[in-house]
Amino acid sequence: MYVGIDLGTSAMKLLLMGADGTIHNTVTREYPLEFPQPGWSQQNPEDWKKALFEGLPELLKGFDASKVAGIGCGGQMHGLVVLDENDNVIRPAILWNDGRTAKQVDYLNNEIGKDKLSALTANIAFAGFTAPKILWMKENEPENFGKIAKIMLPKDYINYILTGVHSCDYSDASGMLLLDVERKVWSKEMLDICGITEAQMPTLFESYDCIGTVKPDIAAKLGIPGTVKVVAGAGDNAAAAVGTGVVGEGGCNISLGTSGTVFISSEKFGVDPNNALHAFAHADGGWHLMGCMLSAASCNKWLMEDILKTKDYGFEQMPITDDKLGENHVFFLPYLMGERSPINDTNARGTFIGMTMDTDRSDMVQAVLEGVAFAIRDSVEVARSLGIEINSSKICGGGAKSPLWKRIFANVLNAELEVPVSEQGPGMGGAMLSMVACGEYESVKACCEKLCAVADVVKPEPELVAKYEARYQQFQKIYPAVKNLFPEIQ
Ligand code: XUL
Repeated sequence: MYVGIDLGTSAMKLLLMGADGTIHNTVTREYPLEFPQPGWSQQNPEDWKKALFEGLPELLKGFDASKVAGIGCGGQMHGLVVLDENDNVIRPAILWNDGRTAKQVDYLNNEIGKDKLSALTANIAFAGFTAPKILWMKENEPENFGKIAKIMLPKDYINYILTGVHSCDYSDASGMLLLDVERKVWSKEMLDICGITEAQMPTLFESYDCIGTVKPDIAAKLGIPGTVKVVAGAGDNAAAAVGTGVVGEGGCNISLGTSGTVFISSEKFGVDPNNALHAFAHADGGWHLMGCMLSAASCNKWLMEDILKTKDYGFEQMPITDDKLGENHVFFLPYLMGERSPINDTNARGTFIGMTMDTDRSDMVQAVLEGVAFAIRDSVEVARSLGIEINSSKICGGGAKSPLWKRIFANVLNAELEVPVSEQGPGMGGAMLSMVACGEYESVKACCEKLCAVADVVKPEPELVAKYEARYQQFQKIYPAVKNLFPEIQ
């Protein structure tokens, strides 16, 4: 049996899987997310550790734990985890959706220069990336910065707790802006720019490589054998792509989690000449292009739970009947945490526009679902402009549970959406990577061919595609019209 861990932003999801893909059990452990200032986002790595120590024994309750052979983790990307010389956490992790580094991003993109960054790392700076956070710490917390012995990413901290090894895989390392993504080595020049050395960086692995076995004391605490292999794992998007079978050349996966991503896998290294899409390594040994919006399913969660004070998402979507699709006069810009792809604007904010006296609650709910789909289309259009055909895509993540939302997406994107049999995303990808490390499958691709099947296809409907095309043209005009207001009204 294999354990997959999805180290998410709101919770850790653990799953126990057989080599044939059978999911024996799942456990979720939630933890808090701090927003100490508007646009800041951090989390305590100790909370992840607690989730692991509580969640794993619960996952294995009633199962023969001696049969566990491997563990693999897919984790939220870009978060800065810093350890001192005794491997103690120095400060809370600064997460992927944190926007405090506008000044450092400006320095990197405009003084070091986008061309140079792209030549060194295949990417430019975005607020959520790790390198600007290191510069932020250097400038704002010099004492903490001086204590840094190791820099790692969230899932690498879990791997460190399990094995004592400081590791990182290429897919996750790509989002640090410190990796030469094409050559898969740390960029010495980028490390110099950030005032750090290679000794402070973890050892690099392919996602399906074994980094070590579980330490005896931890194995005893968790009730698993000390022979359990821990695989390097992957950033959550690469792990989710493995979980949905998007590996090799030309596959597409859309993930609707807290963030929303469009993930296009490739056997060859390639860069978006405008760097609007990230150019990262993939967990199968290849590469991918990715657009990432910072608030996707989280926009709907915000509207439902924080504003409308309900958890009955289905009930709120019930009044959105067929005749309402493509007809909504209300629009929503889903920039509740600023935005990454493709607009790269930390000042952008959530915006409703177009309401009239007859606007009702369900129009606002619909506007949020549609606004997220339009914003994902922005990244899809960047990919299409590079000549990448996206006529179909896998879809996964919490947001993909809503049949209505999937239908809106299929029509807004004019693409067929394939829904995987197993909805487990990054955790399933993590477990699959550990199967490869343990020799169950000879490659990530072989594992996907065996374990990833499609349960359902949501097809675009020509009439709705045309209506949504017209709506998307209108949506596209809203952000440029209000863009300059955002910094002023903060
Ligand atoms: C990707 C990104 C997010 C996080 C979410 O670049 O920042 O998708 O990985 O966990």
